[in-house]
Amino acid sequence: MSDIEKLRNKLAHYGQLHLLEFWDEINDDERKELFEDLSEIDFEEVTNLYRRAMESRANGREKSDEHIQPIPADRRGSIVKSSPAVLKAYEDAGMEQIALGAVAVLLLAGGQGTRLGVPYPKGMYDVGLPSRKTLYQIQAERIQCLERLALERFPARNQNFDDHRRHGLIPWFVMTSEHTKEATQDFFAQNNYFGLNPEDVIIFEQGMLPCFTESGKIILESRSRVAKAPDGNGGLYQALKDNEILSKMESRAIEYVHVYGVDNLLVRVGDPVFLGYCLAKGADCGAKAVEKAFPTEAVGVFCVCDGHYEVVEYSEISLETAQRRNKDGMLTFGAGNICNHFFTVKFLWDVIKKHGCSMRLHVARRKINTAWTGNPESGGEPVVGLKLEKFVFDVFWWSQHFATWEVRREDEFSALKNADGAPGTEPLPDTPTSARRAYFSLHLRWILAAGGSVVDQQGNPVTELSTLNSALPCEVSPLVSYAGEGLKSMADGKLFKLPIHLTAPEEEKLRNDMLKNNCIGINNLINTALK
Ligand code: UD1
Repeated sequence: MSDIEKLRNKLAHYGQLHLLEFWDEINDDERKELFEDLSEIDFEEVTNLYRRAMESRANGREKSDEHIQPIPADRRGSIVKSSPAVLKAYEDAGMEQIALGAVAVLLLAGGQGTRLGVPYPKGMYDVGLPSRKTLYQIQAERIQCLERLALERFPARNQNFDDHRRHGLIPWFVMTSEHTKEATQDFFAQNNYFGLNPEDVIIFEQGMLPCFTESGKIILESRSRVAKAPDGNGGLYQALKDNEILSKMESRAIEYVHVYGVDNLLVRVGDPVFLGYCLAKGADCGAKAVEKAFPTEAVGVFCVCDGHYEVVEYSEISLETAQRRNKDGMLTFGAGNICNHFFTVKFLWDVIKKHGCSMRLHVARRKINTAWTGNPESGGEPVVGLKLEKFVFDVFWWSQHFATWEVRREDEFSALKNADGAPGTEPLPDTPTSARRAYFSLHLRWILAAGGSVVDQQGNPVTELSTLNSALPCEVSPLVSYAGEGLKSMADGKLFKLPIHLTAPEEEKLRNDMLKNNCIGINNLINTALK
């Protein structure tokens, strides 16, 4: 039997024979492409996944609404409710582990950024800061700043700093997908890894799954290609296994991992306070939370479901549950997920050894390009189909010692999800403009807290967020400060005029480029304190 006949039989067995619909019309190259595409699919596995996903949708969220409870108080911590001494103790504990080289950070960067509408990885997005730094660069610089701070605080913990610089104090694992891997790799290489050692940036790839129709038929994207999408950020665990990432972590003596999403401009990569809190709680898994801004905000919420920890995603929660309030008027499920998670490496091993294959599947209805409609040559008009996704937080279900850490939204969370709307249209949340504004506001508060004063172009004092015009930037380089510390010597007793951009000594080239390009009116006010 020829290879194509075998394939035909296999497809017929799984009810997917339509995938060869255009076989007689396509040329040899296209046939080769389609044959390879179809040969890569494990039909037994994907049809099972589809079946499981549909079952899980049928048994869906509405049922478990009755079963869910908020996270118990003794597993919830909060930055606002902790004293400065306790916060300092958490920070010390986290810093010590960082200085010991026991902490890795892991970025989830496999998403397609569809809502933001960019054809490249979201991490390469330039949010429009004076420095033109992208999300990837900002995160890379935060890692470097944190390494410096940890080693300043615990020099004795790491006698051989030079050695660690070569081998990486905080390795950065970056999960990409077929859509984002190559561009991400090239971008890091072209930018000299933003000052990090290339060996400390470990880029790996998550899996893809075919897209289905409601009736379980795999969709053809073009006449010679199957429509596929990344398997969701919960594809992390399969990707950890396939790429032997946990062994790589162990070979570097990593014990704790901070996993986070790419699109939060304020993310505290490797946050030592969060780390220290999770250690103090003896957590195997932890997650940062913010208080939901309003009941229908597009964030998942933490809860306990039939005795297991869970996040109920915003797309799966009923309106009634989302709106439920306690007697004191607070939302019952008000702890919003910001996609910042803590894991022990031991827990991750357990997940991939014991539970990897049984992760829950979620179904998202999305527009999918297909050869079935319109002009098959060009891929045709999109149809509404189903994407199967795993969610990174679904492993909380297996956690024995889970803990949430509530942080201040204005300090730690400003997501970049949507493009700015056209002028005159209803403004969307989580846009480049709102993220920039949150960034400038935070840095303004840092400067004020460090004893600086700020005036606008007319000389009027700027003391509050509301008076900060987002067109007048206030940017502090992540190489200067990680979370507002270390600014006293630059700011105390000094008067700054907006726009402000505080840069580190090693950023001289950036300063010169900005001066040369007269970038967003920065002129000679960079680092200038007026008194
Ligand atoms: C996510 C959370 C949601 C939270 C919100 C906060 C999940 C499943 N949902 O929702 O509970 O309230 O962030 O902003 O975590 N990604 C991959 N591979 C994929 C899909 C996504 O790596 O296949 C990455 C994205 O690049 C991003 C992160 O996962 O860094 C979150 O994905 P996104 O689709 O933006 O999640 P949200 O729907 O915003």
